[in-house]
Amino acid sequence: MPRQKRILITGATSGIGLALVVRHAPDAAVLATGRRSAEEARRVLPDGVAYVQADQRHPERAVAAILSALDDLGWDRLDLAVLNAGTGHAVDPAGETPQMLRDVLDANLFCAVTLAQALRPRLEAGQGRLVLIGSTARKGAAGFASYAAAKAGLHGFARALAEEWRGRIAVQVVHPGPTDTGMHARAGHDPGRLVRLFARTGTMARLIDAAIARGRTVETISFARFLGRGEGGR
Ligand SMILES: NC(=O)c1ccc[n+]([C@@H]2O[C@H](COP(=O)([O-])OP(=O)(O)OC[C@H]3O[C@@H](n4cnc5c(N)ncnc54)[C@H](OP(=O)(O)O)[C@@H]3O)[C@@H](O)[C@H]2O)c1
Repeated sequence: MPRQKRILITGATSGIGLALVVRHAPDAAVLATGRRSAEEARRVLPDGVAYVQADQRHPERAVAAILSALDDLGWDRLDLAVLNAGTGHAVDPAGETPQMLRDVLDANLFCAVTLAQALRPRLEAGQGRLVLIGSTARKGAAGFASYAAAKAGLHGFARALAEEWRGRIAVQVVHPGPTDTGMHARAGHDPGRLVRLFARTGTMARLIDAAIARGRTVETISFARFLGRGEGGR
């Protein structure tokens, strides 16, 4: 019998991450992470999914908590890690305080980079795959300057890591386009009627899984692409 896959998904208590958990939990052992408490996470996660609270605005603590949860599960190998946790705020950069800026860069970029490096031995043992969730906003999105900077950083990091780990661990960065997870509202941004063009959350999770299966280092998934105005892969 093939062994059960072991999958880590960060930012798995809402939106795209939760949809990925729902897709994988029936067949795989899943460790989910999020910012909220374990008690709150239990209310949304499928039964049998392990959870650890890890606020990525505090990267060192978050990485330590995730490694400790992996140890508790006895997972010395990983088949797949999807570093999906992300957050932003819609704000004029002139009004962004240093603390706001630091939180966005820590949660979206610094923590993902340090976590990826910390997961290397387990991914290598599992001949596994690392998937970083970026954003089409990496190319610049008005009101989301620090978020765009963080996602652009992830893009460069993933491409470098794909070369450094080539032959040992597959590395991908997947850039979703606008998706109806409620993230925009939480970020203080009203997309207005454009929201009708947003991808459904479950559809985006399915397309991300398809991108993972294709295995290309860089993938963009956006309605602009479907309308034939793709962003250009790399
Ligand atoms: N929605 C879009 O239009 C869109 C487009 C392109 C890219 N993306 C990217 O896709 C990923 C998922 O976004 P989503 O739309 O599904 O967002 P979402 O519904 O707001 O979910 C975000 C997830 O990340 C977690 N998270 C947020 N801040 C965190 C922190 N400081 N520490 C740890 N976890 C944190 C949240 O945990 P809690 O719920 O526990 O707080 C939640 O599980 C993000 O990387 C986002 O940048 C989204």
